[in-house]
Amino acid sequence: MSEYREVCLSGTGVTKVFGIGSKKTVAVNNVDFKFYSGELISIVGESGSGKTTLIKMLLGLTSVTSGEIFFMGEKRDISSHKKKKEYWRGIQAIFQDPYSSYNIFSKIDSVLLDCIKMRGGRGLPYEKKVDMMREACSFVNLKFDEMTNKYPFELSGGQMQRLMIARIFLLKPKILLADEPTSMIDACSRATILEMLLKLRDETGMMIIFITHDMGLAYYVSDSVYIMEKGKFVEYGSANEVVLTPKAEYTKQLLNDVPKIHDPWEFSRNKKFRKEITV
Ligand SMILES: Nc1ncnc2c1ncn2[C@@H]1O[C@H](COP(=O)(O)OP(=O)(O)O)[C@@H](O)[C@H]1O
Ligand SMILES: [Mg+2]
Repeated sequence: MSEYREVCLSGTGVTKVFGIGSKKTVAVNNVDFKFYSGELISIVGESGSGKTTLIKMLLGLTSVTSGEIFFMGEKRDISSHKKKKEYWRGIQAIFQDPYSSYNIFSKIDSVLLDCIKMRGGRGLPYEKKVDMMREACSFVNLKFDEMTNKYPFELSGGQMQRLMIARIFLLKPKILLADEPTSMIDACSRATILEMLLKLRDETGMMIIFITHDMGLAYYVSDSVYIMEKGKFVEYGSANEVVLTPKAEYTKQLLNDVPKIHDPWEFSRNKKFRKEITV
């Protein structure tokens, strides 16, 4: 078996400090990480552990106080607007609150058309663009004909998150950051969203970083799990290693809370959606 796996996103000593003096918060504290192409990684930690701050630094929405981030083996350069736009071709995010993710003045078809333009499809004939939008909507079980002329906020929370996934389907980034994308929608839509994320990964090979405070969910969907406590990674490894043989006290604590929340997800169950990463 070959040892080679492509590292698509990595970081050394990545740190974010908010505020100064007595008001200082070290949200992310000197973390190192190496994420491989095609992997599904979960970052698990309680509220306030620094997950969203890390995601925002990875995306380039929040500046890094110190440390380095590398994208596809090279030091990331997002020093100009142009370079940032180029970076965002490769890395995209879905956030927790679907209502905050859309420009309220954009109709659904223009949200999708923008994605086609970002992928260089500006000059395509309109019919071709409609075909692409139709395909993206059908991937997430939305009916394109019912979507045109509507605004995203006319959809339910679950439908809006599905539209976010349709965007990702069109953009086909190398990396998708999903920051608790299922935490604000109903349980039924939640399962659908998860299945769609897994389908997206299987069909496109994109790497997904899934942020959650839910250990059961992380085990269910991921290849690797990183445990975050107070801005630091206290443990990481394969989902099986971290969940079945946890080493850090904090991981054990998180696992203790799981059966109370998720009785139906026994840890021994077959993970029918998970695919082994081929190395
Ligand atoms: N813009 C900000 N200004 C000041 N402190 C912040 C800001 N964003 C986050 N924090 C603080 O950083 C810490 C980590 O927050 P966050 O990254 O949102 O955690 P999580 O996503 O794991 O809940 C918290 O203590 C939070 O209060
Ligand atoms: Mg958060």
